[in-house]
Amino acid sequence: MVRTLTNKTFALSALVTASLMVGGVMASDKTEPRNEVFKDKFAKQYQSWHDTAESKEVIDALEADPNLVVLWAGYGFAKDYNKARGHMYAVTDVRNTLRTGAPTSAEDGPMPMACWSCKSPDVPRVIEEQGEDGYFKGKWAKGGAEIVNTIGCADCHEKGSPKLRMSRPFAERGMAALGTPFDKASRKDKQSMVCGQCHVEYYFEKTAEHKGFVKFPWDMGTTVESMEVYYDNLQFSDWTHAVSKTPMLKAQHPGYETWQLGMHGKNNVSCVDCHMPKVTNAEGRKFTDHKVGNPFDRFEETCGTCHEQSKEFMVNLDKERKAKVKQIQLKAEEQLVKAHFEAGAAWKAGATEAEMKPILTDIRHAQWRWDYAIASHGVASHAPDEALRVLGTAVDKAADARVKLAQLLAAKGVKQPIALPDISTKAKAQAALGMDMKKMNADKEDFKKNILPKWDAEAKKREATY
Ligand code: HEC
Ligand code: HEC
Ligand code: HEC
Ligand code: HEC
Repeated sequence: MVRTLTNKTFALSALVTASLMVGGVMASDKTEPRNEVFKDKFAKQYQSWHDTAESKEVIDALEADPNLVVLWAGYGFAKDYNKARGHMYAVTDVRNTLRTGAPTSAEDGPMPMACWSCKSPDVPRVIEEQGEDGYFKGKWAKGGAEIVNTIGCADCHEKGSPKLRMSRPFAERGMAALGTPFDKASRKDKQSMVCGQCHVEYYFEKTAEHKGFVKFPWDMGTTVESMEVYYDNLQFSDWTHAVSKTPMLKAQHPGYETWQLGMHGKNNVSCVDCHMPKVTNAEGRKFTDHKVGNPFDRFEETCGTCHEQSKEFMVNLDKERKAKVKQIQLKAEEQLVKAHFEAGAAWKAGATEAEMKPILTDIRHAQWRWDYAIASHGVASHAPDEALRVLGTAVDKAADARVKLAQLLAAKGVKQPIALPDISTKAKAQAALGMDMKKMNADKEDFKKNILPKWDAEAKKREATY
């Protein structure tokens, strides 16, 4: 609060009256993070929201496709990456993943605070209490005892109200950059924007004034090309690839962006039309089904409200589209895996920075495009033609890199083809990259046993004061 004492006295006093003091800290009165509080008042919505717990299967994406370990070598995702499941597990899963490591103190661990940003209504609560500066400062473990309630009511609603809201200022800025601030948006637009707080591409800013803030890279547009130019202009990279030394971009999950490019997005069929339909319960009362999941589970209330085809027809069409996207995805991966190892061989043969630069740029762009397409969960259902187009350009750019690599390796007298290590399973691929999984797993188990209970106890104590 100290910062605001300059020329913002009015804003400060407004904030004070809008806040309650709890144990010497400003507590937000705009956000009730505890979902259970709404259990009785909004029983139908609460119960169906709670049912997202039914989507509990954990699917190990690295096991299913060990190429990913190589593509993400040197980055957290090579350690551990599971497919998305129900909203009810968001906090559990971010605690349990090897990516967040095994911090033993608030200052310890690989990830920043920003990693909590799409997991919980405690995020807007802490931002309201401490400002974005306060929230984003520090390591992930700093938020352990604060960010404890999974994705819920206050992420999408004003306090105790059915009214939709943008709960995160960085998401509000992102949407405004696209031309329509939330409060000017239509009801339909709002329905998709609430999902677009999290199901989007974002990065962690590195500027002095916004260090560690989440930002959506949309200033130049939301297509794969415009975000690529945006990142290139900033010379931004998420990490340096462990084998090829490429300055890499990790796409997050640009689902909102790719949905807009599909037939439904273009016709403003909202996320909610398919994932949160209006349904009627046994007593004949209409409400919004809050069990966000697979739209085919409620075909009559989703697709069936607008289309006459049978469920079987639509499910098969969807399967076909998924298979087609998968086919080109794997082609892009095959090219990229080879490109990384060939670049590694070129460095070993004494290639110079100048010789490698155009090659690494091709690899960076190819993998960004591949990742943009496949990390947009549901892209084969939302925008299959865009996914195929983008993956096509990924294959093309990886091939450009490999042509240049073949010439460079030949000039250095390196025998080709470059031998690849055995990456036929997740474990083999991780071993080939020299990753000590045994230690990481043991540390994580210690963390779960010793640190998590402390976080929960501390959170319980704090919430008892609400
Ligand atoms: C991911 C976003 C999201 C979350 C989380 C969420 N809601 Fe909603 N909620 C919506 C949307 C979208 C609508 C429909 C708005 C519309 O019709 O335009 C809605 C509608 C409602 C309504 C209005 C009546 C109705 O059924 O349409 C109530 C009440 C409500 N939600 C309560 C809750 C409660 C209680 C929780 C927490 C247990 C919750 N919501 C969690 C997005 C969300
Ligand atoms: C506060 C951030 C946030 C908001 C808001 C949000 N999501 Fe999610 N969503 C997530 C996260 C995180 C996961 C992955 C959870 C996990 O795997 O632990 C997820 C998972 C999902 C899944 C996969 C569910 C499954 O069972 O496999 C779907 C579908 C989904 N979200 C759709 C939506 C839609 C539609 C909306 C808007 C109505 C929405 N989400 C709003 C963060 C969010
Ligand atoms: C026209 C209907 C439709 C619309 C509109 C739509 N989706 Fe989907 N979505 C689907 C279908 C169908 C699937 C595939 C379901 C499956 O196989 O689990 C899917 C899958 C997903 C998944 C991946 C789930 C998983 O477990 O892999 C996420 C996340 C998701 N959608 C979020 C969104 C968001 C966010 C929006 C809006 C920006 C949106 N969807 C708009 C129909 C739709
Ligand atoms: C709110 C209405 C609405 C809902 C719900 C809806 N659609 Fe559509 N769908 C449209 C509109 C509008 C179009 C654009 C073409 C047209 O006018 O027929 C379209 C087009 C399509 C097309 C042809 C275009 C393409 O993608 O190649 C398919 C296939 C389709 N929808 C499948 C689905 C499936 C599957 C679901 C449920 C998961 C679904 N739709 C839910 C309105 C809807």
